[in-house]
Amino acid sequence: MNLLVTGAAGFIGSHFVLRHIKNHPEDTIVVLDKLTYAADKSLLDPIAEQITFVEGDIADQDLMTKLVEDHSIDTIINFAAESHVDNSISDATPFLHTNVIGTQAIIEVVKAHPDVRLLHVSTDEVYGDVGDDDPSCKVTDTLRPSSPYSASKAAAEMLVLAAIRTFAIQAVITRCTNNYGPHQADEKFIPTVIRNALADNPIPIFGTGKNKRDWIYVGDHCDAIETLLTVDWKSDQRTIFNIGIDREFENIEVAKMILTLLGKSHDLISFVEDRKGHDWRYAVDSSETRTLGWAPKMDFEEGLKETIDWYKSKYA
Ligand SMILES: NC(=O)c1ccc[n+]([C@@H]2O[C@H](COP(=O)([O-])OP(=O)(O)OC[C@H]3O[C@@H](n4cnc5c(N)ncnc54)[C@H](O)[C@@H]3O)[C@@H](O)[C@H]2O)c1
Repeated sequence: MNLLVTGAAGFIGSHFVLRHIKNHPEDTIVVLDKLTYAADKSLLDPIAEQITFVEGDIADQDLMTKLVEDHSIDTIINFAAESHVDNSISDATPFLHTNVIGTQAIIEVVKAHPDVRLLHVSTDEVYGDVGDDDPSCKVTDTLRPSSPYSASKAAAEMLVLAAIRTFAIQAVITRCTNNYGPHQADEKFIPTVIRNALADNPIPIFGTGKNKRDWIYVGDHCDAIETLLTVDWKSDQRTIFNIGIDREFENIEVAKMILTLLGKSHDLISFVEDRKGHDWRYAVDSSETRTLGWAPKMDFEEGLKETIDWYKSKYA
């Protein structure tokens, strides 16, 4: 395959290309990343000689077109996004630019190159939250995004779905639950807990800490994407795939697990004012994705240990 991977200097995209090039050294990988505050280009240093890295914006349609044509790209994987909910509450503008306008620019490129497939990485946050006794969300459920971030991701999905219907572009959408693992930006929940715990600083926990998330190890998410790349999208009519592990933890439980693994006191936990519009619980039904032969492999406690070790060396 000749892949154009956007946003691969970020958390999930960097894992994806590092793993993909290891397993498929014969493939071409072009990375396009704007190098925002969330990016760390050095994550790609181990494979710098094996990929083409381009600094740029997915909303730059001319640049995207040139990359697709110059490198005979057959598949675009769109990880690029503004991804932090709290930032979207402060200022939604960059979210609209990248997540909505940027996605439409990619769609325009795919429309003009009908042989090029688009795997658009979305999020389970487009469903909004679910109650404790509600069933897991199915891909046919109504979208009820709560934050400007999730609203911008839902808008991007609508544009992709419209282009599938109107222009018959080849595209699939993934809705994954919260990822954890090495490489995640410092602002996110698990790195925040680890960083503060290592420094013996108070660990901020929104509200009651009882909000539930279904944490997936980033490598398992990447495996699901690899699985989708093997599917013949022309014969398989499904377009939206949920990805999750069906094991939920309250935020407070995760914080306590990390503190225990680090040998730190649970007294470091400090409750702070709840996030505005904070989603209570996410839960997705990923049975459709499992029919493709994918299943998550990483045990949560093992994955947390690996994650903690990585941040220990980062913050040392
Ligand atoms: N992290 C999660 O828990 C999670 C869960 C489900 C889905 N997702 C989705 O997965 C994707 C990747 O998330 P992540 O956590 O790796 O995000 P991230 O914030 O760590 O990385 C995003 C990357 O995109 C780049 N970028 C931002 N704007 C760009 C633009 N206009 N053009 C080119 N590059 C740009 C950034 O520089 C960064 O390298 C996002 O689409 C996100 O919505 C994330």
